Amino acid sequence: MAESLPRHAWLETPGVPCPPDPAAAQHPLRVVLLGAPGVGKGTQAEMFTARRRVCQLSTGDVFRAAKAADPCNRTPALEEALGYMQRGELVPDETVIAIVKERVGCLRCDGGFLLDGFPRTVAQADVLDQILTREGIRLDAVLNFDLPIERIVARLAGRRTCPGCKAVYHVEARPPAREGLCDQCGAALVQREDDRPEAVRVRMEVYAASTAPLIDYYARKGLLVSVTAEGTPEEIYARAEAALAARA
Ligand code: AP5
Repeated sequence: MAESLPRHAWLETPGVPCPPDPAAAQHPLRVVLLGAPGVGKGTQAEMFTARRRVCQLSTGDVFRAAKAADPCNRTPALEEALGYMQRGELVPDETVIAIVKERVGCLRCDGGFLLDGFPRTVAQADVLDQILTREGIRLDAVLNFDLPIERIVARLAGRRTCPGCKAVYHVEARPPAREGLCDQCGAALVQREDDRPEAVRVRMEVYAASTAPLIDYYARKGLLVSVTAEGTPEEIYARAEAALAARA
């Protein structure tokens, strides 16, 4: 697994820019990653980051970073957000939108961005549209990863994540070199609380009701690029890059 980007402006200190990465600014990519929970968006984001030096802006990672931080530093809104997340429900739009607005500098990044997990509702997509229009930023595409639900549930059951650098593994499909330990930073891997079967069921229902309508939303805007999420992460990545190249 290749080196990740620091992401502190996204995860911890909005407003404090990350160090410039000259390699990233040469071919910036500005993309939204769409797809059901567990389809592999985070895995693909890691691959794009490693190869294109483009930053993964995951709203789920912001909440998980807040959870790992000192509880005294959590605002009541963040505390409430963690409860929604644990149950597999969506965090209210106003909380998520406030979090993204605080981090608007990440959308201006010369290296571009991969929005992962945002937007998740039509209301969030409308706000993103307004922000991008106001900032004069154009999306290159919305990559929609598609896979039957049974396959996705198997991916979630075997997922392990690194609480330190947020790298994502799978016990069978993408195991770490040393069992239970992160390849990048050596931390002990954990299973996410919302990967419990009851939370997974809620997440799938919420996805169908609130997020799947974004497929039509972005198709109407001419931005949707559908990618079959069958096969290995490498195969899916190659498919995604080919689909983006075909649009360029
Ligand atoms: P978030 O963190 O965004 O989670 P998610 O969308 O549920 O997506 P996941 O991270 O679960 O899955 P993924 O698609 O990234 O898959 P991964 O690459 O890990 O959100 C979590 C929660 O935060 C939400 O439920 C909500 O409460 C809240 N939230 C966040 N954003 C919000 C918003 N905008 N509005 C409201 N609430 C919000 O892959 C999964 C597993 O499969 C891994 O083990 C991986 O190794 C494996 N895998 C990947 N690719 C393959 C492959 N090709 N073959 C075999 N295995 C594979």
